[in-house]
Amino acid sequence: MRRIILFCLLCMTAFPAFAEYVHISTEKTSLVLRANRNEAPLFIFYGSRLNDADLKQFDVSGAGIFRHAYPEYNRHTADDFAILVEHADGNIMLRLLVTAVTRSGDDKGEIVTISTKDPVYPFYVDLKYRTYNGTEIIEMWTEIRHSEKKGDVILKKYASAHLPVWGHDVWVSHQYGDWAKECTISEEKLVPGQFVVKNHDGARNTHTAHSEIMLSLDGKFSEDHGRVIGAALSWPGNYKLSIDTDKIGKFVHHFFAGIDETASEYHLKAGETFVTPPLALSFSTEGKGGISRAFHKWGREYKIHKGYEPRKVLLNSWEGVYMDVDHEKMASMMKDLSYLGGELFVMDDGWFANKWGRTEGSGLGDWDVDLKKLPDGIPALIDEAGKNNVLFGIWIEPESGNWKNSELWEKHPDWFLQNPGYEPLGIRGGSQALLDMTNPKVQDFVFGIVDGLLTEYPGIAYIKWDANVYMANYGSKYLPAKRQSHLGVEYHRGLLATLERVRAKYPDVIIQDCASGGGRVNYGLMPYFDEVWTSDNTDAWQRVFIQWGTSEFFPASIMGAHVSASPNHQSGRVVPLKYRFDVAMSGRLGLEMKPSDFSPEEMEFAKRAIADYKRLRDVIQFGELYRLVSPYEANGELASLMYVNEDKSHAVFYAYKMKHYVNQHITPVCLAGLDPDKMYRLHEINKNDDAFGWMEGTVVSGRALMSAGFQPYLHKEYASRMIELIEVK
Ligand code: DGJ
Repeated sequence: MRRIILFCLLCMTAFPAFAEYVHISTEKTSLVLRANRNEAPLFIFYGSRLNDADLKQFDVSGAGIFRHAYPEYNRHTADDFAILVEHADGNIMLRLLVTAVTRSGDDKGEIVTISTKDPVYPFYVDLKYRTYNGTEIIEMWTEIRHSEKKGDVILKKYASAHLPVWGHDVWVSHQYGDWAKECTISEEKLVPGQFVVKNHDGARNTHTAHSEIMLSLDGKFSEDHGRVIGAALSWPGNYKLSIDTDKIGKFVHHFFAGIDETASEYHLKAGETFVTPPLALSFSTEGKGGISRAFHKWGREYKIHKGYEPRKVLLNSWEGVYMDVDHEKMASMMKDLSYLGGELFVMDDGWFANKWGRTEGSGLGDWDVDLKKLPDGIPALIDEAGKNNVLFGIWIEPESGNWKNSELWEKHPDWFLQNPGYEPLGIRGGSQALLDMTNPKVQDFVFGIVDGLLTEYPGIAYIKWDANVYMANYGSKYLPAKRQSHLGVEYHRGLLATLERVRAKYPDVIIQDCASGGGRVNYGLMPYFDEVWTSDNTDAWQRVFIQWGTSEFFPASIMGAHVSASPNHQSGRVVPLKYRFDVAMSGRLGLEMKPSDFSPEEMEFAKRAIADYKRLRDVIQFGELYRLVSPYEANGELASLMYVNEDKSHAVFYAYKMKHYVNQHITPVCLAGLDPDKMYRLHEINKNDDAFGWMEGTVVSGRALMSAGFQPYLHKEYASRMIELIEVK
């Protein structure tokens, strides 16, 4: 009896009668917190949409989690925490108690702020939540400040967000990889202990792990059903996503996301506000697919530069000639591209550096045209592009230089990141190192590279912004000796400020985000970039996996996907041209080769494929993605996906054979996302055999296609299908 009374008393303190619930909602989801004045803010619920009356249930039903929304170190020392600070007097105690809840709005949506303050120190943390009209995304971040008289407060850990998730069979999906093997998906059940995803590259952050994860609350992930939470940290630098799973009576998984604290203590001045990068969250009852579609929509509408501008078909010169650039080769590629119906030519690395010449180990940073290779310079190339009715683009890698063998190093050695007393570590070519983006002079230099090119050659329509080395020399000559731990944060603040300047002056130039392929595929950068170079690996078979992973959070419109020569330069694999086009045409189609390497028949095939892509690109680039058969599942035999336009009148279906053996039976594929009551005519794109021929022109109902599916007829090795579905009224 005494135990029951004690339990009731505890409940009364834990659930006061007049709790202030903070309800942040999208059309389909609710995030609920409790923010009672002078108490710690509590997280209660994130899931399907509740109405305001439902919130009262939390007072009486025992539902919800009631965990600290932003746990401080030193609260439950056994558990993980979101924030750890050292006050100016050396004390590390912190208590964040609610002082106010405010709501404001702008043209994008609503911003809710739960303001908190320490009861002893003038130390404040605002917990911020933002919705985006018309999307299923809620962003969370924090703003930290103080007015302590004795000096700086050291932020030792400063997570952007904490999301408690409750369930006995919760799974996490995350991505790992490396150069040319980006975005490998791994799905694991959460067990007691800690699950951590982090990246310490310093400059690029997505070759290895990605700062996006999904959590399935209903056991193993499904593509089309089950409750799933998706989370993406928008920040181009080092990060840490961790999930602490406890087992005290019930499984609660504490998900923390933010800048990784390793070697990143931040000395916060009085009056300065530290804004942590936002974590975007989405909740769906339609499995992984629902989360992907929510992020794609939000990305296009709010995060990706010109998210709804149709992306052009381009030819990038890299795998065609590598650094062996000259006027004739560029002109010949432009002519062939024009014949094929392409729209944009990009001259990759190798066009610059007069004194030292450009090799992997020299010339980087010297952004003057190599007159031996291009005696008539860039204007002659822009003229050539004009004659061929294609746009002209150019490669740069502005944040790096060769720390030997460059005029930049000769003139400005102090602009390079370096550790005093140590010879810089050279990464690519033995001497490439990052410039110090914390230094405003370096920021001016980097802005000046872009500004100089675009001012001198206004005909440049596209920039490929590359980043090929990690932060090896963790030291800045610009930052004070006692503030070296700010480098990871300040580098990216400098980069973002520079990109902001570039975009303010050049909103219409198309800019590709490349980092040795997909080393920088992160929403923190997408406001400045139109697309990414998904991977340096152009092997179509492996690209199915890489693009599959990338599509979990990013739409097809930004996914640079290029047809390259066969045998493939990275894998040596020989893959039919149809398969190569079918894979590249599920992203932003391009070419990465000399078209003169095509046979005359291949040239005609490529010409038809490009024309079809241009006709279908609105569906592919802006349609809703449905992943139908995963290459990771079904014995890995097949991969299949489709895009459906908004009014479900037009769709494009793809199937790729991933394995080949005798007596192999490929089962029919059920389509998704169509209108069951609409009739669709099937039309094969990139046809190269008659296997699907009898289906050509057939009219089938959306209902039949989604429930009975159809057989893609993938008989031969590397067989693939690309089928257009058009509504017939
Ligand atoms: C790495 C990129 O990913 C390639 O496409 C190419 O641009 C090279 N750098 C050039 O150095």
